[in-house]
This record gives sequence, C-alpha cells and structure tokens, in this order.
Amino acid sequence: MKSFQKELNRRRTFGIISHPDAGKTTLTEKLLLFGGAIQEAGAVKSNKIKKGATSDFMEIERQRGISVATSVLAFEYRDIKINILDTPGHKDFAEDTFRTLTAVDSVIVVIDVAKGVEEQTEKLVEVCRMRSIPMIVFINKLDREGKDAFELLDEIEQKLNLTVTPLSYPIGMGYDFKGIYNIWEKNVNLFTGDPKKDIEDTIEISDLNSGELDDLIGNSAANNLRDELELAQGVYPEFNKDAYLEGRLQPVFFGSALNNFGVRELLDCFINIAPTPRSKESEERLVKPDEDKFTGFVFKIHANMDPKHRDRLAFIKIVSGKFERNKAYLHVRQNKNLKFSSPNAFFAEKKEIVDVSYPGDIVGLHDTGNFKIGDTLTEGEKLNYRGIPSFSPEHFRYINNADPMKSKQLAKGIDQLMDEGVAQLFTLELNGRKIIGTVGALQFEVIQYRLEHEYGAKCTYENLNVYKATWIEAEDEKSEEFKDFKRLKSKFLAKDKKGQLVFLADSQFSLQMTRDKYPSIKFHFTSEF
Ligand code: G4P
Repeated sequence: MKSFQKELNRRRTFGIISHPDAGKTTLTEKLLLFGGAIQEAGAVKSNKIKKGATSDFMEIERQRGISVATSVLAFEYRDIKINILDTPGHKDFAEDTFRTLTAVDSVIVVIDVAKGVEEQTEKLVEVCRMRSIPMIVFINKLDREGKDAFELLDEIEQKLNLTVTPLSYPIGMGYDFKGIYNIWEKNVNLFTGDPKKDIEDTIEISDLNSGELDDLIGNSAANNLRDELELAQGVYPEFNKDAYLEGRLQPVFFGSALNNFGVRELLDCFINIAPTPRSKESEERLVKPDEDKFTGFVFKIHANMDPKHRDRLAFIKIVSGKFERNKAYLHVRQNKNLKFSSPNAFFAEKKEIVDVSYPGDIVGLHDTGNFKIGDTLTEGEKLNYRGIPSFSPEHFRYINNADPMKSKQLAKGIDQLMDEGVAQLFTLELNGRKIIGTVGALQFEVIQYRLEHEYGAKCTYENLNVYKATWIEAEDEKSEEFKDFKRLKSKFLAKDKKGQLVFLADSQFSLQMTRDKYPSIKFHFTSEF
C-alpha cells in the first residue's frame, strides 16, 4: 500500500454549482458549520455580484477580495478531508467556473424548489455531464412554497438530461412543511424551523407502514408519504453507487439550507458515496492519483490583491503523488525547475503554509509571473494536462492605449490579465490591432479598472462587430483553398495568445458561408481540438 493511500482515501474535492440565489453560499456555510470549521452563521461571504451596488467595479473588487478567501474551503468531517472549490454563479464569470470544474472530483447542484431548473444550472450541469462528473442534486428552500417533488424531479430529468433517484423525500412544503423522510438512512427528520435543532432529533422508522409514522406527522400526511414513496420507487431506479460514480445516475436530496435542514443527511451520504480523487487524462497518458510521483495543474490564478506587491497566487490541484514544500518541480511548459518555499493550504477562514499535500488537495503557490492557467507541474515527466480549453468569447472590443507614456505597462498588464484568464486577446493579422474578447460585458470594466489600478496604464475600447471567434484547422496549409481563404478573409483573421489562427466571423450567416466555401478547413468553437 502507498504511504499516502490513507490520505488519498479520505479526500473529497468538490464544487457546488447553482444559478445565483438558489442557496449555494448558505449551503456552503452550513457544511462548514458541520465540519466545525466556522463557528457561526454569516461567516461565509457570498461571492456574488450584488445588484444595485454603488459602482460596478467597486463591486467587482469586493467580489474579488471575497473570491480569494473562498476559493478553497477545506474542513474535516468524520475524519474525511473535504475541499470545496468555489464557483462564481454570475454568468459573466462562467469561464472561471468551467475552469474550476476541471479540478473537482464531483459536484453538488443546488436547485431552488420554487424556481426549478434555471439557466446557469443548465449550462454548468451540461459541462459536468459531458465530463461524467458525479453529481448530487440538493433541492433547497423547502420551507417555502414551491413545485411539487415529482414535477421537479421530472423537470431535472428533462431540462438537465439526467437520470435521478430521490434519496430523501419531502413531507409537505412551505407552510405545511413537516420534514423529510431519508430514503438512504430510513428515518424521518421533523422540521421545527429551528436551525439549531440537534440532529439527535432524527427518528428511525424502519417500517413505513407502522403507526409510528402516523403518530409523528398525522394520518393523512403519513398516507400521502407512503403513496408518494411507492410511486417514486416505481418510477425511479434504485440508487447504485457505480452508476452515480460514472455519472449515469444522480441522487437527489431535499431540504432547507437556511434552516440547516436536510443538510446533515446530504453530507453524510456525500462522504459515503462521493469519489476520492479521480484519475486525470493528460496529452500523454492517464495519470492515477496513487502514483508515487507528484503531478498537478494550475486551474486558477489570483493576482494583485495588494497593488503594492505584485503578488499572484496560482492554485494547483494535486492529481498524483505528494506535493512537498521546498522540493524542485518541473514547470513543463517553461521547461524549468521551480521550488516553493511557502505553499499555502486553505481552510475555512485562513490559509496556512503546508509541508505536504496529497491528491485532491489544492495548494496556492506564490508566483511572480511563471504560471498560466492550464500549466502542469511534475517531478520531471513531460506531461501536459488536458481539458482547459478556451471557448469563443461572446463580446469583442478593440483595446487602445490611452496613455502613450505607459505602453509598456499596458502590454504587461494585458499579458498578465490574460494569463489569469480574465479575457482573451486576439491580434489582427492585417494590422496588429489588439482585440479583447470576453464572456460577459462586466469583464471590460474589470480590465480597465485593474489596468489602471494595478499597472498604472489607461485604455479605451472601440466597438467591433464580431459574432464568434473560431479556431482554424487546415487539412493542408499549402493547399490553394487555404491560401485563398487567408487572402480573401485576411481582414477577419487574428492570432490568439498562443499564436493559433482564429477567424473572427461578423455574423452567423457569414460564418456559415465561409464554412460552406472552404470545406477542407475546420472551424472550432474551442481552442482545443
Ligand atoms: P447563492 O449563493 O446561490 O447566490 O445563494 P445564497 O446562499 O446567497 O442564498 C440566496 C437567498 O436565499 C438568501 O436570501 C438566502 O438567505 C436565501 N436562502 C437560502 N437557503 C434558503 C432556504 O432554505 N430557505 C429560504 N427561505 N431561503 C433561503 P437573501 O435575502 O437574498 O440574502 P440574505 O440577505 O439573507 O443574505
């Protein structure tokens, strides 16, 4: 057995995804309370962009501050080391969330009982589904009136394309909410509306047909529950751990995060079934977590929280082996060895220097500009982790230098912000003009603000009509067809930051026309193909 097998087996690294307002922050906080990682409610700050804030960029800075603190929330529960990776819910930061999802081993999806499946949930679950990430669904806010349980389960199956099976079941809802029946543990937990209520109040009900249930919740509610559970058993498959781990079956829990109700059930099941750190594909081979040698990759970079120091923190997910302080590791892209004297581990409210970290863990490395998102670290093997592609941005603008004396600062600022993954930079082939592409309109403000405050550079934007950026792959770069394409479309061609050729289509129509005209050229919507 590996020396660190025990550490590996007790790690669970996951993300909570939801549409804003479904209750992600509240649930995170209750989980941390269970782990004893925080002492009181309100300790976890929401990372969402509050509506109606005085000014957007101040709000962004506030959000960014919080986002450092909540990037990784680690705690222990029943000897299991749990790492929660934070995912911004705001759609303008969806790319951040997609990148974080490359570092999780499973997810919990939070759905609002009244609103059901919302837009952001659909997008994020789609990404998890494509990667076969195991998912548990938590239906939240049962203390409020909402949709009927069957209707919701149906909606989740239809809209999210999942196969669900309830592992807990609500008894009434809203005003009539009486509690939940825990299918997984076969007991009833009565709702009192008191968040401090102890878990000892759970009542074992081994036989649903016994009068005990009627005594607890009343005759009619008991009969209702029996009927509905019977129906559910007929409609939904039995829970199967392998099917869940392979992403083919998604168990569902009901509860109210705000009332800390149904959360303990969720957590107890989670530590039982959620995967230990999983293997990961690299360009070269599949890497298993229990391999002796350390490997890991950067999935997030946080920069310049203190403008006086150019500090950046690169977040590394450990995929295999042990990561040790002061040991030299190979930065594969730059082909150079680096040592880290003060790697950070994250806990609920603080970060600390650690000597050793294990697969599943996240370490924060102080960086002076070596890292880009997606970079791989190893003990010497030339390995490149896959799976952090760039998607075509949705918004495009020319970026201009507004202070000619500061052009160096501007170039450096743009370069570093792009490494962080704030936006994408394209350089037009024809005239070298720079174009910024972003997922949400908010990012343009973020960039302008940060360039000024962190790099002392000023920029202006100019509108530009681009519908999508597509990455170009030619069957034969010497073909007449490709030469013709490059000549006729030269106005629309640019290079991305890695030097890959990109076609900037001004409309869906022109993209289609171009594709039809050049059948031997492939137009990709992501940078990895
Ligand atoms: P998010 O991170 O997914 O965006 O959601 P968050 O936890 O911030 O919750 C959004 C709102 O929903 C919050 O109210 C929160 O108190 C409420 N909420 C969360 N869980 C439950 C629940 O189980 N029942 C009910 N009734 N409400 C719940 P808010 O008024 O927007 O914010 P706050 O001022 O209370 O912080």
